[in-house]
Amino acid sequence: MTDTTNDIKHVASPLARQTLLDGSLTAPIAGKRPIRLLPWLQVIKIGGRSIMDRGAEAILPIVDEIRRLLPEHRLLILTGAGIRARHLYSVGLDLGLPVGSLAPLAASEAGQNGHILASLLASEGVSYVEHPTIAKQLAIHLMATRAVVGSAFPPYHHHEFPGQRIPQHRADTGAFLLADALGAAGLTIVEDVDGVYSADPKADSGAKFIAETSAEELVKHEGTLPFDRALPEVMLNARHIERVQVINGLVPGKLTAALRGEHVGTLVKTGARAA
Ligand SMILES: Nc1ncnc2c1ncn2[C@@H]1O[C@H](COP(=O)(O)OP(=O)(O)O)[C@@H](O)[C@H]1O
Ligand SMILES: [Mg+2]
Repeated sequence: MTDTTNDIKHVASPLARQTLLDGSLTAPIAGKRPIRLLPWLQVIKIGGRSIMDRGAEAILPIVDEIRRLLPEHRLLILTGAGIRARHLYSVGLDLGLPVGSLAPLAASEAGQNGHILASLLASEGVSYVEHPTIAKQLAIHLMATRAVVGSAFPPYHHHEFPGQRIPQHRADTGAFLLADALGAAGLTIVEDVDGVYSADPKADSGAKFIAETSAEELVKHEGTLPFDRALPEVMLNARHIERVQVINGLVPGKLTAALRGEHVGTLVKTGARAA
C-alpha cells in the first residue's frame, strides 16, 4: 500500500501517519514560517479606560488624528473595554458568575466602544465590523476603505480559560493575537500614560519610564502593567510582530509618529525573529 493510492483511507500527507503531539515529527512541516496575510496593515488598539471612558476630551483629538492618518495607512482600529466592564465584573463576581460568563459581557463593552469610534469616523468611510468579518473579509473591506473598527476583545467567550475569575485574555491580548495572525506591519497600543513604567506612574511618583523592554522581561515584572498580564506571555510565541509600541494617546501627534516608525513611547520586543 503506498501513500499515493486513491483509496480514501490513505490520503497522501506527510503528517498522515504520525501523532501531532510529537514536535520533532511535525517540525519539518509545521516549523515553516506562516505567510503575512496583510503585511501593509497597521493595527491600533485604543484603550477603553484610558481613552474611551474620558469621552469627547480624549476621543475627538484621536479621531482627528486618525482622520489625517487615513491617506497614509490602512488601519484596523480595535477598541478595549473600560469602566462598564469593570462594573459588570464586580456585579457578576458578586453573584458568582463563572469567568466564561463574564468574558462575553466585558467583550460587549469593547464592541460598544468600537461602535462609538466608528460612528465618529463614518463620514470617512469607516465602519464597525464584527469578528467573523475581521476573520473572513478584512482584506476586501480594506480595499474598499482605509480603515475599519472592531472589538479588541478576543472571542474566547465561554471558552475563556478558568485559571482566574476575571478573564485573562482581554483587549490587549486580542489585539496582539489578531495583528500577529494577520502578519500586520505593526501594533500600537494607545494608553493615557507615556508607556510602560517600573510601577503605576499615577500611584507611585518614583516610577521610572522604560523606553524599551521585552516580553521576556515583562513576564517577570512583578506589579502592575498598563496591559493584560497575558500579553507578554502571548508575545513570547509571536510569529510576525517583532515589537509593539505603547504610546500616550492624550498627546497629539504621538500616534502619527508611532505609525511612521518613530520611537515615542515604550517599545516592547516580542519573541518573533526577523525573517
Ligand atoms: N507599570 C505601569 N506602567 C504604566 N502604566 C501603568 C503601570 N501599571 C499600571 N498602570 C496604569 O494603567 C493605566 C491604564 O489602565 P488600563 O486598565 O490598561 O486601561 P485601558 O483599559 O485603557 O487599557 C495607566 O493609566 C496607568 O495608570
Ligand atoms: Mg491598557
